[in-house]
Amino acid sequence: MKLLVTGGAGFIGANFVYYELENHPDDEILCVDKLTYAGNMETLAGAMRNSKFRFVRADIADRKAMDAIFAEQGPDIVVNFAAESHVDRSIETPEIFLRTNILGTNVLMDACRKYGIRRYHQVSTDEVYGDLPLDRPDLFFKEATPIKASSPYSASKASADLLVMAYYRTYHLPVTISRCSNNYGPYHFPEKLIPLMIINALSDKKLPVYGDGLNVRDWLYVRDHCTAIDLIIRKGREGETYNIGGHNERANIAVVKTVLRELGKPETLIEHVTDRKGHDRRYAIDPTKIHAELGWLPTTSFEEGIKKTVAWYLEHRAWWEHIVSGAYASYYEKMYGNRTVLDP
Ligand SMILES: NC(=O)c1ccc[n+]([C@@H]2O[C@H](COP(=O)([O-])OP(=O)(O)OC[C@H]3O[C@@H](n4cnc5c(N)ncnc54)[C@H](O)[C@@H]3O)[C@@H](O)[C@H]2O)c1
Repeated sequence: MKLLVTGGAGFIGANFVYYELENHPDDEILCVDKLTYAGNMETLAGAMRNSKFRFVRADIADRKAMDAIFAEQGPDIVVNFAAESHVDRSIETPEIFLRTNILGTNVLMDACRKYGIRRYHQVSTDEVYGDLPLDRPDLFFKEATPIKASSPYSASKASADLLVMAYYRTYHLPVTISRCSNNYGPYHFPEKLIPLMIINALSDKKLPVYGDGLNVRDWLYVRDHCTAIDLIIRKGREGETYNIGGHNERANIAVVKTVLRELGKPETLIEHVTDRKGHDRRYAIDPTKIHAELGWLPTTSFEEGIKKTVAWYLEHRAWWEHIVSGAYASYYEKMYGNRTVLDP
């Protein structure tokens, strides 16, 4: 089986690449990534040593490049992680989100139609459902919950989901969609909440918490997300959407305090700052469908996951220090600039 994984130099995509290489050693993986600010070849250094793994630097919204890759590689399964993924950035510059997240999905699916594939999987987010009120802990996002995106990011992801389902209905493209809650774990880019707090706390810098910090997110350890996607692409039903979440709801402020406790740092480092525009209040996933149909359950509790994550950041200082200093951006040129990397 040949998997084409887009966005594999990012946080979840890279964790998925490692999960697949470990659990399906006979499969081949071709990673396509544009290497935006969020893509980091240092993250894929281990995979680059595996003969079953290949990397191509390309933009999923580049039709010519995708056509060439599909013609040459003939993937069986496409898993699309590639995206602009940071809500704050989408509020500043929405257009790039529309290009990558919507047009990129369109280009990939057109290539799938042209060359034929067994499965196109769209990695989506629970943010497409909008948010839930804090005073209704009985409410959860189900797959049938109407789409009601709040930010340019979530609107672009929701648009892509609609397009994926349109390709299923119109062209019978064998698609699946997964909508996952907030991930955390190794290789998480330092601009996101948990790594940002770990890194700031390690340097005794202030920990900026948006607004009152009471916004609730449903946290999932990234490896549990990978096991869910692996099950969906191999056993999930075509045309179906699966919610992925682990009933690990935490207020942002509670998450930050947990990180401080793990690091033995004082809560006086916390600083409340101006809230994000249109900040969603609460996300909470009902994962009943994926559990009932595919037997998936998360295996990492929040307490265990946060310990593992803090330990990982302590053990991998060079990885995040290169990002914080900007050095990671030139790593690709240094390591791979003169090598024969598969041309799109
Ligand atoms: N992080 C989360 O908590 C979370 C939760 C639910 C869903 N998701 C979804 O999972 C996917 C991966 O998220 P992440 O947190 O790993 O994101 P990330 O920002 O860490 O990584 C995105 C990757 O996509 C690449 N990329 C961006 N634009 C591209 C383009 N035009 N062509 C090719 N590659 C491109 C980047 O270089 C980067 O390597 C996204 O689709 C996101 O919407 C994320």
